[in-house]
Amino acid sequence: TTGGTDTYDITQRRSTAEIIDGVRTPIWGYDGILPGPTLVTRRGRRTVVRHRNELPVPTVVHLHGGHNAPRHDGYPTDQILPTSGAHHGPHHGDGDLSRGTRSYTYDTDQRAATLWYHDHRMDFTGPSVWRGLAGLHLITDDEERALPFPDGDRDLPLVIMDRSFDQDGGLRYPSVDADLTATPGVTSPYEAGVLGDVILVNGTAWPYREVDAVRHRLRLLNASNARRYRLRLDPAPDGVDEPLVQVASDGGLLARPLTHPYVDLASAERQEVVVDFSRYRVGQRVRLVNDFGEGPTRQVMEFRIARRAKDESHVPSELSVIEPLDAGRAVRERDMVFRSEAIGDRHGWTINGEPFSVDHIHAAPRLGDTEIWNLYADFHHPIHLHLVHFQVLGRGTKKPGRFDHGWKDTLDLRPTEQARIITRFDGHRGKYVFHCHNLEHEDMMMMGNFEVR
Ligand code: C2O
Ligand code: CU
Ligand code: CU
Repeated sequence: TTGGTDTYDITQRRSTAEIIDGVRTPIWGYDGILPGPTLVTRRGRRTVVRHRNELPVPTVVHLHGGHNAPRHDGYPTDQILPTSGAHHGPHHGDGDLSRGTRSYTYDTDQRAATLWYHDHRMDFTGPSVWRGLAGLHLITDDEERALPFPDGDRDLPLVIMDRSFDQDGGLRYPSVDADLTATPGVTSPYEAGVLGDVILVNGTAWPYREVDAVRHRLRLLNASNARRYRLRLDPAPDGVDEPLVQVASDGGLLARPLTHPYVDLASAERQEVVVDFSRYRVGQRVRLVNDFGEGPTRQVMEFRIARRAKDESHVPSELSVIEPLDAGRAVRERDMVFRSEAIGDRHGWTINGEPFSVDHIHAAPRLGDTEIWNLYADFHHPIHLHLVHFQVLGRGTKKPGRFDHGWKDTLDLRPTEQARIITRFDGHRGKYVFHCHNLEHEDMMMMGNFEVR
């Protein structure tokens, strides 16, 4: 089951998608679809993805959650120029420019997990992802496949994103949402990031799906630029307070399942839950709702319970082994402060007072070092590190939060909060970014470099 290479070809191009019934919306899509094609690869097999850029702008492909060499990680200036040759835009820093096509090689030497790929071009990640450049990349391994989880069409990846539309059905960026201006301390709506008022699941606005009355695995990905969700089944099954059985997070399986009444997802976070639809009546409609939304952004999708069926799946009480990283082994601690600051005569989002620059290195861990990072925030910032997964040691003086278990690559840092994470910088030397995954904050410079030496 190890060795070998899987090769995929993806063309980034303009096309249209039927997001809203009967309306053709122009998008930029991987293979012209939204979300892009789902890649499924096995641990131990190398994956080569050849991207061809037929879009009018340069692009960068990043595999979010991937443990890859720097030149295959999608550094923000490491661009694929358009095939058309029409672009003569500026070129930032030390980017390695390639015209038209580029192959990314992923070793896939990492645990089974729900990863995703998306555009990462410097200063333009927000608008490019908004136009459609995002897709799933699932990694499987023997450990995960041996578990009796629901599979086949009972394993449902749900890519959740919000968008706004203009009169003609085009995507509108940026847009303003009522709850933005209501955020205390936020003076301009745009500062909270771009929010849409239509919720898409797998590229369709407020879809429904017929499901058998059996267990399903839901792989929830928040692919929104800036919106946070609190997801729950409505109604909850009779007599069950915590119907969402979480089995995995960003970095794959948890050690043991956790039950929740709802799950919170900040931008880029993944949570996988098993839900048991046999607790509902045939014909019943069960909504997935977002308690952080209002009006249209409250509704996410609907499940329609179609028929009874045989179900041999279950969730074992032990899923995997996760060795806790030992804080006593950390060779250093660093503070990373994520906040808004004046930069010259304008304002920007910074890390330790520095707006993103390709030359400023915030941290230079040695290969193999274990480090503790103390993350501080002035506002909501989902913090993401490339290359590594981390464990959460605590939030302020408290224990890790309800959704902080297992291996994470993105952590929802709440206003004025501090979180303590621990990670080992392993596998590759080189320069990687870490950043706020509110894509408008990222584009407005809330990104830094760490260089593994
Ligand atoms: Cu999901 Cu640096 O990105
Ligand atoms: Cu990433
Ligand atoms: Cu942010």
